[in-house]
Amino acid sequence: MAEHGIILVGAGDMGGHHARAWTEIGQPIVALVDIDRDRRSRLAETYHITNVFDHDDEAISAMSQADIVDICLPLAFHLPVTEHAAEAKKHILCEKPLSRTVAEADAMERAVTAAGVKFAVGFQRNLSPGVEYLRDEVRSGRFGRPLLFTADGLGEVRPKRFMHDRAGNNGPVVDLMQHYFLLWESVFESVPVSVEASGFIAAHDRPEIAHFKEKAIDTAVVTVRYASGDVGTMTVCWGLAAQSRVRSQPERLIGPKRVAVAGEFRDFSWEGWTLYDGPEETYHALPPVHPHAMQAQAFIDYVEGKRENPPSSLADGRRLLKISLAALTAIETGQVVSLGD
Ligand SMILES: NC(=O)c1ccc[n+]([C@@H]2O[C@H](COP(=O)([O-])OP(=O)(O)OC[C@H]3O[C@@H](n4cnc5c(N)ncnc54)[C@H](O)[C@@H]3O)[C@@H](O)[C@H]2O)c1
Repeated sequence: MAEHGIILVGAGDMGGHHARAWTEIGQPIVALVDIDRDRRSRLAETYHITNVFDHDDEAISAMSQADIVDICLPLAFHLPVTEHAAEAKKHILCEKPLSRTVAEADAMERAVTAAGVKFAVGFQRNLSPGVEYLRDEVRSGRFGRPLLFTADGLGEVRPKRFMHDRAGNNGPVVDLMQHYFLLWESVFESVPVSVEASGFIAAHDRPEIAHFKEKAIDTAVVTVRYASGDVGTMTVCWGLAAQSRVRSQPERLIGPKRVAVAGEFRDFSWEGWTLYDGPEETYHALPPVHPHAMQAQAFIDYVEGKRENPPSSLADGRRLLKISLAALTAIETGQVVSLGD
């Protein structure tokens, strides 16, 4: 594997996970960008990154030897940083979600295509061996059909306030659920056909988010139907009272012959699944992995032409975004939204 130079844009939580991943696979981070200087200094110190910048465009023009820009910024910045990086002919790994709107996704695609650079979006959770395990078991018929996949995401108002901004990460229907839309289609090996949803803003009068002109839907039940007849459903609330001790239920895959209940989710990967086959209950443990490092390696292989596709493509990001947007439309209109095209 050749040595590439990474410009890491964003020194927050995801920036930290990506820094660890690049280091684990032996790729040098040649520059770190963040407007928050304290946060940037801490991460730069941990990973011995000597070149630090406030803005991505400064780093991109100063670091001509780098060939990859890794975007770990809030959603509103995914498009402009992609455009800057593509103009400078850098390959791009961008955190999920891809973009806020389909028009932004299209603009990202135009920039990447015009520059002839490679692009991937960071849905690293789907690299967890737990996904492949369920898919193979479903394929073998051990669950029977049709299937119901349930998921749950309960939490307080997010400390990252941009999660609650409609013009930012736009709440859990956009920020969180796309991981599950991808999980469901991977396990069902089918395409989504329609979405129904109900929701509201539980945290509407919380002072922490009072400054947003438009607050995001933070509480919803979203159900996606697939061509296979299978169904995925997720309940989310990011508006629980402070210090609530309620925890999310584990994911469950429910079939006529078998039910699987997720074990611990650690380091972005499921540690195993408890399987219920009639009266039998067994635990299937999965190997510990580091999905961010797997994603980083897969991206390098893609850049080097050793694999045809990225782990998740721009088209994947756009398709998953469309399901989120359909769910928000379903909440607004009370109608089932078809994912026809
Ligand atoms: N793949 C996953 O499992 C996963 C998990 C969590 C978050 N995310 C995604 O990662 C992205 C980043 O989330 P995070 O949790 O790291 O957020 P974060 O708030 O922890 O970090 C974001 C960083 O970006 C910096 N920043 C903001 N605007 C900037 C700008 N214009 N220029 C330079 N720096 C800027 C902030 O100072 C902050 O340090 C989001 O899109 C989020 O949805 C993905």
